[in-house]
Amino acid sequence: MANPFTDNNTRVLAIASGKGGVGKSSVTTNLAISLALRGATVAAIDADVWGFSMPRMLGITEPPTVHDPDSERPTMFPPSAHGVSLISMGFFARDDQPVVWRGPMLHKALEQFLTDVEWGTPDFLLVDMPPGTGDVSLSVAQFLPRAEVVVVTTPQLAAQKVAQRAAFMAKKVNLAVVGVVENMSWFRGDDNKAYELFGSGGGQELANELEVPLLGQVPLVPELCEGGDSGRPIVVADPNAEASKIFAEIAEKLAVELAPKRIYRPALRIT
Ligand SMILES: Nc1ncnc2c1ncn2[C@@H]1O[C@H](COP(=O)(O)OP(=O)(O)O)[C@@H](O)[C@H]1O
Ligand SMILES: [Mg+2]
Repeated sequence: MANPFTDNNTRVLAIASGKGGVGKSSVTTNLAISLALRGATVAAIDADVWGFSMPRMLGITEPPTVHDPDSERPTMFPPSAHGVSLISMGFFARDDQPVVWRGPMLHKALEQFLTDVEWGTPDFLLVDMPPGTGDVSLSVAQFLPRAEVVVVTTPQLAAQKVAQRAAFMAKKVNLAVVGVVENMSWFRGDDNKAYELFGSGGGQELANELEVPLLGQVPLVPELCEGGDSGRPIVVADPNAEASKIFAEIAEKLAVELAPKRIYRPALRIT
């Protein structure tokens, strides 16, 4: 089977950051569900080999089902939850073994995820990238040349420098950066005041430097952390929460404002 994502109309969004722990997987998961809640068909690849966390975040415990397992190239059907079909490196790693994937294996695994999985033709494919700028980024660029990169950062100015590396990498492999998401931007206390625990301005500054929009600022909320463990992400568990509304806005920006422009020719007007 061929890789369907090189020439179909699926929008591929690669969610990247310069380092781990900034909330990349949380953003990928909640954004994927928010896009699905808008009516889009959404698929996701958890390509973070060191910290595959999307199955847990989405509450998926079933591995992919394998069709025709005895054939030379069996087809996999991805499990799904909350409207998001998912393939994760985690489905193929055994709990009792440390994951020591090397570049070529990762490359092969990613290729297999794209070619041996029955994805259909989703409107969006989100890829939770590993932190940093290693081999997987190169493979993603090669297999998904139309991927648009969303860079996740935290508000402190030092983090923005780290996140910038992900953007430089994108440029090097010829992927377009579509926008920045700032995560853990503030904590809203019982007094309803927003406390900027990790400083401020990092997301906007990075967006300015990259000349892309700041897609949104996601607050630090305990429910987001809990949702990551319970399999009920905040956008599902509490759709009216401040953070959930922000994810919905980010989804809307990506799906509508930043949709690839259709070529409009007045001469082709239907009369
Ligand atoms: N906005 C947030 N509010 C509260 N906790 C968050 C938020 N974003 C992420 N977290 C928590 O921080 C930790 C790291 O987030 P994660 O999405 O796994 O980061 P990454 O994928 O970048 O390593 C997780 O425990 C997650 O639940
Ligand atoms: Mg992660």
